[in-house]
Amino acid sequence: MSETRKILVTSALPYANGSIHLGHMLEYIQTDMWVRFQKLRGNQCIYVCADDAHGSAIMLRAEKEGITPEQLIANVQAEHSADFADFLVDFDNFHSTHSEENRELSELIYGRLSTAGHIATRSVTQYFDPDKGMFLADRFIKGTCPKCAAEDQYGDNCEKCGATYEPTELKHPRSAISGAVPVLRDSKHFFFKLPEFQAMLEQWTRSGTLQESVANKLAEWLDAGLQEWDISRDAPYFGFEIPGEPGKYFYVWLDAPIGYMASFKNLCARRPDLDFDTFWSEDSTAELYHFIGKDIINFHALFWPAMLEGAGFRKPSGINVHGYLTVNGAKMSKSRGTFIKARTYLQHLDPEYLRYYYAAKLGRGVDDLDLNLEDFVQKVNSDLVGKVVNIASRCAGFILKGNDGVIVAESAAPELNEAFLAATPSIAEAYEIRDFARAMREIMTLADRANAWIADKAPWALNKQEGKQAEVQAICAQGINLFRQLVIFLKPVLPNLARAAETFLNVPPLTWDDHRSLLTGHRLNPFTPLMTRIEPAKVEGMVQASKEDLEATQSKPGNGELQKAPLAATIDFDAFAAVDLRIALIEKAEFVEGADKLLRLTLDIGDAKRNVFSGIKSAYPDPSELEGRLTLYVANLAARKMKFGVSEGMVLAAGPGGEEIYLLSPDSGARPGQRVM
Ligand code: MSP
Ligand code: ZN
Repeated sequence: MSETRKILVTSALPYANGSIHLGHMLEYIQTDMWVRFQKLRGNQCIYVCADDAHGSAIMLRAEKEGITPEQLIANVQAEHSADFADFLVDFDNFHSTHSEENRELSELIYGRLSTAGHIATRSVTQYFDPDKGMFLADRFIKGTCPKCAAEDQYGDNCEKCGATYEPTELKHPRSAISGAVPVLRDSKHFFFKLPEFQAMLEQWTRSGTLQESVANKLAEWLDAGLQEWDISRDAPYFGFEIPGEPGKYFYVWLDAPIGYMASFKNLCARRPDLDFDTFWSEDSTAELYHFIGKDIINFHALFWPAMLEGAGFRKPSGINVHGYLTVNGAKMSKSRGTFIKARTYLQHLDPEYLRYYYAAKLGRGVDDLDLNLEDFVQKVNSDLVGKVVNIASRCAGFILKGNDGVIVAESAAPELNEAFLAATPSIAEAYEIRDFARAMREIMTLADRANAWIADKAPWALNKQEGKQAEVQAICAQGINLFRQLVIFLKPVLPNLARAAETFLNVPPLTWDDHRSLLTGHRLNPFTPLMTRIEPAKVEGMVQASKEDLEATQSKPGNGELQKAPLAATIDFDAFAAVDLRIALIEKAEFVEGADKLLRLTLDIGDAKRNVFSGIKSAYPDPSELEGRLTLYVANLAARKMKFGVSEGMVLAAGPGGEEIYLLSPDSGARPGQRVM
């Protein structure tokens, strides 16, 4: 075994103004599995997190609910803590950025940066809400897009045409908080002089601390040149006041990462074995890793290391970035019921199902990860229930009934023990480099081997024969030992299953090193089912409940209207057969100059090309994504002359409209021109 490592790990601090959903949970589960793996290996690994409690969004939400920000963040912290605990995310500490430790550390770091000359001040002109008496962040200003004239767009970008601009370029600006017309006003702001750290960052981002694609992204930003970073906000603001500067507050993103340190410091006060400086001093040899999503790379890989360097602290050993969660191939959607809160999931399903599914799909990269609900049911049932748990349930009964629960000493297949042991370095490496998908694949390959071997030996058949009892016991002893090895491999992902298995196996908590031993002459406890199959109805229930969640919070007309549309009267078969439905290949999809809603599609229908105008632009803002796709096409619809040209037939789509238009597609294998019946 190598030396015991000292490792401090964090996940991004969730905002204290909303519930945890399955997208967030991807990150906390990923981090937790890595931490549990390190602990299982015998390393000292400390996992801290906190709620990110500052900022104007939290201040305004508290105001809306008629409570103080302190009350709001206390309520949310209780909710978040329960969600994490129930998903088996085992923080060593979950603190808050609105804490004394964080105030002290923020003042210390700011003070050091200021003394070292890394802080500048200058006047900034911004929109100010005269009714509300506050400066307005970009997302609190709405108006008409200067490029496409779409109404009701946010202060920094247009959701219709994708343009980005300054809030001062918006036409007819309004405060999104009070509706007042904002006025321009000057105020003194504080800036962190990031460009002074350019050379350090160029070196640090290339020193193996980052995934390659992340380092490349950062190189682009670094090449473009760094800007000074505005770290102050004016009152009213919920945060820490800047020392000696009444009415000026630290911007939430200044004290948020310092919250990592603060949470650790808070833990040190309870844990005399932990020393703050050992982990944070400039010359620390401990490791420090931050797990984050791809949307907050600049804060963690530019601003944060620069702040640490400037204030005389150590920099991170690594920033581990993951992609975004999609559900059923699309962004989580409230109306589709795929915007699933952590609590809603827990009311329907076992957390370990999701932990395993995420593990099976998480590689080391920053690609988005899709939770496909059908695949989820299928994979969990087939791998965990069908392969892993199945080994124990096939073997346990014969030992419990046939040998009073005692595992015999004979090894029926020493070569399998060897193979499982030989696989441990590779599986450990996959965990270490966060390639959980590879680890799960290798583990399931072993499970397949174990199952195939047991099926071949068929102890259930032997058991019916005279004089085969010893052989049955040797086979089942082997099976239980292989099961035990699989449980050790899966323990970082499935801590509850591991605990139940330890009880059944009648052993103390398993560690990674236990791979080297076998159970022989050892008595088992009675067997209870370790995991049950996912019933698809439970998943359906969760999706339904997520839709109802939405209706409870905002009863907005439009959603679900389609499902309520009454079915039309019947038609006879001939009427149906008169519709010439064909498979069409979308060769080209383009915007139409001067049309808000239309896309021009060039269709290949096998032996001919067709030009179709389709009102689906709102759902496909990037029409090129449609190119190369197959769809369904009504070939014998009379051509229609439109302002932009002649439309020959139509393509088929479902949904209520707007962003929710779903173009229909055949299964793969269909070819352009084929008739649809
Ligand atoms: N408060 C900041 C982080 C401060 S860290 C010093 C924040 N909070 S957040 O609640 O918006 O997000 C917390 C983490 O969850 C981030 O790493 C973010 O990338 C991640 N995710 C939020 N939605 C996600 C998905 N849909 N999918 C995957 N991760 C997602 O950002
Ligand atoms: Zn626009």
